[in-house]
Amino acid sequence: MNLGELHEPNRKVVGRTIRHFDVVESTNETAKELLEADVEEGLVIWADRQVSGRGRQGRAWASPLGGLYISAILRPKEAHAWILGMLVGMPVIKALRHFGVLARLKYPNDAVYQDRKIAGILSEGVYRHETYYVVVGIGVNTNVDLEKLPPDVQPKATTIKREVSLFVANDEFLDYLLNQVDDVYSRYRNTRLEFLLKEYRGQCATIGKTVRATTAKGTVTGRAYDIAANGALIIMDEQGQRHEFVEGSVEVLK
Ligand code: BTN
Repeated sequence: MNLGELHEPNRKVVGRTIRHFDVVESTNETAKELLEADVEEGLVIWADRQVSGRGRQGRAWASPLGGLYISAILRPKEAHAWILGMLVGMPVIKALRHFGVLARLKYPNDAVYQDRKIAGILSEGVYRHETYYVVVGIGVNTNVDLEKLPPDVQPKATTIKREVSLFVANDEFLDYLLNQVDDVYSRYRNTRLEFLLKEYRGQCATIGKTVRATTAKGTVTGRAYDIAANGALIIMDEQGQRHEFVEGSVEVLK
């Protein structure tokens, strides 16, 4: 059910209009369905609960009541779904820190606190009627009881409720988060991408660490060395060979 619309005309693009639902299958899917009609760029879909929340690499994203589930519709100038998904990791970390969780950004866009995941991003590029859109979905474990998450997820996850004694309301978190996402997106539109990638590199806690990256092609172990212009993680293996890594999973070893 649609619970109504919120408006914040002071934002430049992202989150000027928010459509709030009680429950959807997945906010990314709702956003994509809306692309059939002529929607304004920056429209945000917000749900209190998702029945089939989706994560990266075909995983599920448990979405019980209490968490924050949103998707923003962007119409970037280039096919930048992957890069935008990474860049949006920065505002997510900023919002978590603002509300008292000293989370770190793990490549490409996981928000992690003491090795436990607290927020994730699923960014998807889609063409509709010859126009390229990016749907950026963000899930944050705000007021979720850890016990409400699947048993296999619980040891690897945490929530704001668990880490911070102060109550953080979802609408308050959302308001702050969207201000930050709007800011990053406006810089994406108005400045050179390399500046934002440089900033991302500085914030990405994976850089400098020994990592194991796994893709469909195989596994690479080495030092996470840099971020390439296309958003790939550059890994140097022990033989000094350079690997660029995009899809798949990264495990931080030390
Ligand atoms: C991940 O870390 O694997 C990404 C998780 C992304 C979850 C969010 S919740 C809102 C949006 N709708 C979805 O179905 N997924 C994203």
